[in-house]
Amino acid sequence: MSFYNVTKGTKFEEIFKGGVEAELYGTRVYMTLYLLAKEQGLEDVAAIFHEIAVQEAEHAGFYALCNGEQKPDFWEVAKQIQQLEEQAGDRLDERATELRTAGLTAAADHMNIIAKQEVNHGKLLKALFEKYGK
Ligand SMILES: [Fe+2]
Ligand SMILES: [Fe+2]
Repeated sequence: MSFYNVTKGTKFEEIFKGGVEAELYGTRVYMTLYLLAKEQGLEDVAAIFHEIAVQEAEHAGFYALCNGEQKPDFWEVAKQIQQLEEQAGDRLDERATELRTAGLTAAADHMNIIAKQEVNHGKLLKALFEKYGK
């Protein structure tokens, strides 16, 4: 049984649309609290905020999937995203340089980490395509 499209065109569609937004907002708030707690050395608090944030993100995905976002054959979407992930590396490294020039050294360092992570997302997806012959 798939959740795909089950609420599209029903009385739940609008409610679930609101659900997506609320859960994305929750993800944003909890991930921000996570980073703050980590900065303050409160690792146990940070871990809980992180766990909640990931669940909120999954809730957003659930509502979106029920409303028919994306397609069950997800490979095509993943391929489009893969290219964006790869390209994001250079763009975010440029942003890191701009931050560094502005004197925001710590934020620049973190932006370089994010750039590497985005490129890695691209690599992970590419490896999946190879594994599944897509
Ligand atoms: Fe939630
Ligand atoms: Fe990414």
